[in-house]
Amino acid sequence: MAVLITGIGELTTNDPELGKLRDAALVLDGETVVWAGPAAQAPDADERVDVEGRAVLPGWVDSHTHLVFAGDRTAEFEARMAGQAYAAGGIAVTVGATRAASDEQLAANLRRHVEEAAAQGTTCLETKTGYGLNVVDETRSARIAGEVADEVTFLGAHLVPPGADAESYVDLVCGEMLDAVAPHVRWADVFCETGAFDEAQSARVLKAAAERGLGLRVHGNQLGEGPGVRLAVELDAASVDHCTYLSDADVEALASSNTVATALPACDLSTRQSLAPARRLLDAGATVALASNANPGSSYTTSMAFCVTTAVLQMRMTVDEAVWSATAGGARALRRDDVGYLRPGARADVHVLDAPSTTHLAYRPGVPLTHAVWRKGAKLR
Ligand code: NIG
Repeated sequence: MAVLITGIGELTTNDPELGKLRDAALVLDGETVVWAGPAAQAPDADERVDVEGRAVLPGWVDSHTHLVFAGDRTAEFEARMAGQAYAAGGIAVTVGATRAASDEQLAANLRRHVEEAAAQGTTCLETKTGYGLNVVDETRSARIAGEVADEVTFLGAHLVPPGADAESYVDLVCGEMLDAVAPHVRWADVFCETGAFDEAQSARVLKAAAERGLGLRVHGNQLGEGPGVRLAVELDAASVDHCTYLSDADVEALASSNTVATALPACDLSTRQSLAPARRLLDAGATVALASNANPGSSYTTSMAFCVTTAVLQMRMTVDEAVWSATAGGARALRRDDVGYLRPGARADVHVLDAPSTTHLAYRPGVPLTHAVWRKGAKLR
């Protein structure tokens, strides 16, 4: 059944030829966008929805979350706000709670957060394993994630489990764990950081994953400068995420690569780091994505609008750059072009704001502006 969305005050297509349209319309047929253009030229459809001058944009593409988890880290957050530094070791608290949870509890918690994100306009979401850290719990995390999320990443190399020997654990990740998890995931990731995995260990994990045909992602340069960005670029990872501390060489390497620099502003704020240098990256010619990094430790929010607002108000991105980075940029970080756009052939993932333009995302910080959402052509709210 075809649905005509008309009365669009401002339509962000992210398509270089269509651009941003005023007084526009969009036609969805099943799961797909079949037409976008001036309202006066719109074809007929079975159903007509008038959005009365509101702004319409592609659903958010959240390319970085960690939502297969159980438990709570409020106490760690409180300690951080009292001055304690964020460290990778906090992950172990969530590992304990996740291992103790049933499949049903993990799935219900994941669904609850994905629904929370969708209600705010997120229509394509990546999530990761990484709170299991043994073969059984990483495999069930990947299976559960695959039932709910659009994209699933194996992050067995999130932390060396307390008490384990690092080299033996990397052997396990590169062998038995990867074999068990690979059928459930498209991506593999590694936390290349002081307190997690060093350059050689990270390279081993990424190369073992690539040999099994998985795409690569890297957590890098979150807590200080380090080898994460360089490694990601050398191995043609789709994305290197965090990018909070970058050398000039890192910025140049990203600018001349296919690796997307994913900034996670909610995480930088929640861990009291500086904000990732998105302006520097964009000015150098790098591709920047924005993602929520929703997880119970370093960034407990599913709000992509908050990330866009922060990017504009505090990272000196323009509204158009920030909206692109949170939609088409996220899609690029997932090496997809069916989401993050509103043009014929794209997935019918539509976000209607209760505002006349996307500028209001930054102009009205903190105000919930989501008016309606379609995902794969189905109206969610
Ligand atoms: O992306 N940096 C590593 N992993 C997560 C944090 C996970 C946690 O603290 O539980 C992140 O920030």
